[in-house]
Amino acid sequence: MRIDTIDIVPNVILAPMAGITAHPFRVICKQLGGVGLVVTELISSMAIHYKNEKTFGMFDWSADEYPSFCQLFGADPQVMAEAARIVCDAGADGVDINMGCWVPKVAKTGAGAALLKDICQAEAVVDAVVKAVPHKPVTVKVRAGFDQPHITAIKFAKSAAQLGAKSIAVHARFASQGFSGTADWSIIARVKDEVGDLIPVVGNGDIETPEDAARMVRETGCDGVMVGRAALGNPWLLKQIADYLATGTYGPGPSIEERFAIARQHARLQCAQQGENIGVRELRGLLPHYFKGIPGATRLRGVITSGETRTLAQVEATLDQAMEWHETLGDKESEIVAP
Ligand SMILES: Cc1cc2nc3c(=O)[nH]c(=O)nc-3n(C[C@H](O)[C@H](O)[C@H](O)COP(=O)(O)O)c2cc1C
Repeated sequence: MRIDTIDIVPNVILAPMAGITAHPFRVICKQLGGVGLVVTELISSMAIHYKNEKTFGMFDWSADEYPSFCQLFGADPQVMAEAARIVCDAGADGVDINMGCWVPKVAKTGAGAALLKDICQAEAVVDAVVKAVPHKPVTVKVRAGFDQPHITAIKFAKSAAQLGAKSIAVHARFASQGFSGTADWSIIARVKDEVGDLIPVVGNGDIETPEDAARMVRETGCDGVMVGRAALGNPWLLKQIADYLATGTYGPGPSIEERFAIARQHARLQCAQQGENIGVRELRGLLPHYFKGIPGATRLRGVITSGETRTLAQVEATLDQAMEWHETLGDKESEIVAP
């Protein structure tokens, strides 16, 4: 799959996820070899306009994750255009426009998925952003529509392509559904029918296994797949998906040793990026995903998320202890105490 001049190989994309797809997780996914494109979490164009220092701290892409797109949200075309110029000047390889976020803080400003209720405004945003960064690809990520039964993604996809968007990703749920129900992949197929000869279409929603990804490609004809929640704590899945799409087979999942090693790398990168104080707090929500399903995971999660664990050294000591314990006791339960 190709987005403008950029080859997306493999055609597996890490979905933007607020609080998760910062540099540490993106770079780990890249390193494990299963993603052709990574995207930042959504970043407020208005906050960029007001030169919010914390927001500039979210410009965390680097050459080792190329290509890396920055996702922006906002409803004001000129503010979005300005933000697009700023993030591209700061080295983003492309801009993704968020038209999928339904949380009130975003949607009540007319941004995110609310743009799907006002197609003229959505078109004005795409037009302004495309014109603002003529040398970088602009993509759009949409929901099926804002609320049932209004499937706006199909008609909007056509105008986005005609305005110069280089790809569209479709999370095949309505914004009003949040994450409830199941994604209706037939909507991805309809978007593909509508714009498949103009731009690549990326399917998104409920891919949990390599077989799911292959089924989505088969049923919808989408050019690429985007994976979010299932990659959390399991970035190896992306490589399995890429292999399965390319060859029809895939290797085994990670060993427990590999899981601990990547969890440790994630912990170090997170603290290097955010400082130990904030980094360790963020890790409470991130690391437990790596231990899902392993013996003693509940206790390990309890220690990592406890207020007692405040430093990177403590996090690492807990991982060491859990690993030692695993080597000694295998599947038997044991006590893990805060170091
Ligand atoms: C914790 C979390 C944060 C998310 N943040 C964003 C975001 O910043 N931008 C966005 O476009 N979508 C965001 N999403 C939606 C995902 O990109 C994706 O569309 C959705 O999770 C469906 O894909 P999945 O079934 O593979 O998880 C988020 C999802 C989750 C679970």
